[in-house]
Amino acid sequence: MRSRGELRGLRRPRGHGCWDHLYAAPLWPLHGANLGTLLRTCDAVGACMAVPRFPWVPEALARGNTLRRPLCLHWTGDPLGWLERQRERGLHIVGVELAEEAVRLADLPAARRPTVMVLGHEQSGIPPEALDLLDEVVEIPMVGSGASLNVAVAGSLVLYRLAGLI
Ligand SMILES: C[S@@+](CC[C@H](N)C(=O)[O-])C[C@H]1O[C@@H](n2cnc3c(N)ncnc32)[C@H](O)[C@@H]1O
Repeated sequence: MRSRGELRGLRRPRGHGCWDHLYAAPLWPLHGANLGTLLRTCDAVGACMAVPRFPWVPEALARGNTLRRPLCLHWTGDPLGWLERQRERGLHIVGVELAEEAVRLADLPAARRPTVMVLGHEQSGIPPEALDLLDEVVEIPMVGSGASLNVAVAGSLVLYRLAGLI
């Protein structure tokens, strides 16, 4: 097993900057712990995070951020307005959701152009008014008895795929 020192030597000395390439967008967050988990995945794959500045979010991110360096973070303001602006900028919008018309995770190619990955609310999913703003939807197949995955787990799996690392 690699030591902590060896692992540090393999990693970047600094956090990545904003490449305007891949965004994780938990736009309707409910639990701070999930934001911390997503933050670490964003760092691992070189993605930025876009999140609304709800009153509790900055502190939740600070608590969950165990990274040595700050991550590329974008504050969205109104989630729907932010999503609309990203579409107008030409970014590809991928929703992560359990939906009939969704592609399966295994069939999702790595992002070939700047992409936003949108995650749903922990209880109610992606709101209907946001579904119209998605270019495609990806679903992670499940064979167990649970109805859905934890949002940070779902987001992390899709981010790795979009980043082309799995
Ligand atoms: C806990 S789920 C929400 C489930 C909610 N009860 C519903 O029925 O819409 C929270 C979010 O995690 C993501 N998610 C969880 N499991 C997923 C799966 N198997 N495939 C795709 N997205 C998933 C989606 O973004 C979803 O909106």
